Amino acid sequence: MKMLYEGKSKIVYEGEEPNTCIIKYKDTATAGNGVKKEDLPEKGKLNAAISNIIFEYLMKNGVKTHLIKVLDETSVLVKKADIVMVEVIVRNVAAGSFSKKYGVPEGTALKNTVVEFSLKSDELGDPMINDSQITALGVATQEELDLLKSMSLRVDELMTELFAKAGIRLIDFKLEFGRVDGGEIVLCDEISPDSCRLWDAKTNEKMDKDRFRRDMGGVMEGYKDVLARLTK
Ligand code: TMP
Repeated sequence: MKMLYEGKSKIVYEGEEPNTCIIKYKDTATAGNGVKKEDLPEKGKLNAAISNIIFEYLMKNGVKTHLIKVLDETSVLVKKADIVMVEVIVRNVAAGSFSKKYGVPEGTALKNTVVEFSLKSDELGDPMINDSQITALGVATQEELDLLKSMSLRVDELMTELFAKAGIRLIDFKLEFGRVDGGEIVLCDEISPDSCRLWDAKTNEKMDKDRFRRDMGGVMEGYKDVLARLTK
């Protein structure tokens, strides 16, 4: 298979059919833009399983995604997409960089859902960017940004419900989108404990990558628990 791109936690290969790719999840965990890096056995398998459950659930509920089919425990076949070079971050509760930047304790309720954009650039450290800056740079059109926001809020609604049934609070998450078939916007990348903050609904115990970022231990135990609850 021809490798197209190796990222921090996944490798992208060219698919056999035209306009397809194969994404393979790796066991590598990184934080702080790759400064902290470790191999966590089974992470690839766990993230693939969790992400596949979420993507299939979203698709069943009308959200367009890149997913074509699951190939094996760590690989998925997807539509080749022209990735929109912004990350969309959705926040239901204050945490992480939002808490730090605005001086609000983690766990503080928000009066409304927050949607933020970051420019996808490892070199620049994914800086936060607003609509007019994105359109000025030609990264996406306003029409595309409006669609990214409305799709992200729909994904938030659906995922909040899915996780609530599993006894998990969806605090915040990051999404990526791409253009396929001449411009249609679809959800891409992954949705996993690497890209979401997930807290136990009763204890508020963290079940996501913050356990790795903050050296809390029990990282894979948290991911395993998320998968177990989503599949029970
Ligand atoms: P933040 O609080 O660090 O801005 O992160 C918000 C959410 O987005 C959190 O669930 C982690 C996720 N995220 C990523 O998946 N990748 C990233 O590069 C960043 C900065 C955040």
